[in-house]
Amino acid sequence: MGVLSTKSIALLSALAACSVTNGRSLPRADDLDVFVQKQRALSLQNVLNNIGPDGSRVAGAKAGVIVASPSTENPNYFYTWSRDAALTMKMIIDEFLLGEEQLESYIEDYVHSQAMLQTVTNPSGTFLPNGAGIGEPKYNVDLTRFNGAWGRPQRDGPALRAIALIAYSNWLISNDQEDKAKTVVWPVIQNDLSYVGQYWNSTGFDLWEEVQGSSFFATQNQFRALAEGSALAESIGVQCTGCDQAPQVACFLNEAYWNGEYFIANINSNTGRNGRDANTVIGAISVFDVNASCDDASIQPCNSRGLSNFKAFVDAFRNSTLYPINEGISQAEGIALGRYTEDVYFDGNPWYLITASAAEYLYDAVAQWKTQGSLTIDETSLAFFQDIYPTARTKTYTPKDKCSEFPSILAAVTKYAESFVAVPT
Ligand code: NOJ
Repeated sequence: MGVLSTKSIALLSALAACSVTNGRSLPRADDLDVFVQKQRALSLQNVLNNIGPDGSRVAGAKAGVIVASPSTENPNYFYTWSRDAALTMKMIIDEFLLGEEQLESYIEDYVHSQAMLQTVTNPSGTFLPNGAGIGEPKYNVDLTRFNGAWGRPQRDGPALRAIALIAYSNWLISNDQEDKAKTVVWPVIQNDLSYVGQYWNSTGFDLWEEVQGSSFFATQNQFRALAEGSALAESIGVQCTGCDQAPQVACFLNEAYWNGEYFIANINSNTGRNGRDANTVIGAISVFDVNASCDDASIQPCNSRGLSNFKAFVDAFRNSTLYPINEGISQAEGIALGRYTEDVYFDGNPWYLITASAAEYLYDAVAQWKTQGSLTIDETSLAFFQDIYPTARTKTYTPKDKCSEFPSILAAVTKYAESFVAVPT
């Protein structure tokens, strides 16, 4: 598993159900619905196959351990990463909240396994007295330390784990199980939030495990963890150590990475890169809240700077020397994307998970505008909209206006999303 959820995996495989429009294959809505219905269960089962102790593909993994991949060579990913595991568990919790009740035992196993993992002394440090060991990115599947050389620490994992467990805790509270939330889950969340509060301003390795510095993706998730942790602590009547840092993290997130056009993915480091990186697009997906405002400090998909950043990131790959597969495709259409243009890992090719995440980002933004019933285009986001809706202007569009363009603009963004789904893989 990479960093994306089954939602994305389902999307990208939608090519199985396509019709041809403008020379490129666009999925038909009805076919896509049938496909998603079928693929959803398959994807979920395949995720469960990678979780111990009973996962069919991961013999030897302890209960609640989510293995990155059964692959043991080229690459050997038969380990558990805190980031991958937390993102996968967030998806499982979301599915549980949507009614997949049988998933609760996986969530409980995860809580117990992570409570143990947090205390394992490892090359990043120890649990006591300063919690530094919580920033270790990767462990053996039997919950023991991994001693090999690695890009460590990575500071997004604890934040992502807290986000997943906060979602489960909120469900417990709404279902008369506040005591379980407070006594079983909160202690694990608190360890992670203490870590985030203490170390958010220290450098670490980014989500691709290559750059030591400050990573936009990590900061964005750290802010969400502290903000939501603070609300949870209040609702169960406990103190949250570390949550008081949330305003400072928000300030760092919004000001330190922005260069006037896009968010530089890694700062406080000398990468020699242009800074346009999928890091800044998938971060918005992982903090996505359909009810949040586009001005929310977490930088949601519909945020103006976020949209400008999206365009800058995608346009970096509209380069047929770098990616011949994208040659001749117009600005209004999706293209194959990679992690960042300077990538050389496995030859630095496009990666369908990233291409699919562009679609997911746009679908998320559309869902937010629909929820809000309005869409504001400003100077910062104008160029993004003009690529796909040439007559876009800086104003607030609502469905109530006479001859409203609101539905047409949403349709244009949706079509743009669909065109990323249709990119040949
Ligand atoms: C490499 C990816 O870049 C990273 O995000 C992931 O955590 C590991 N592989 C394990 O899947």
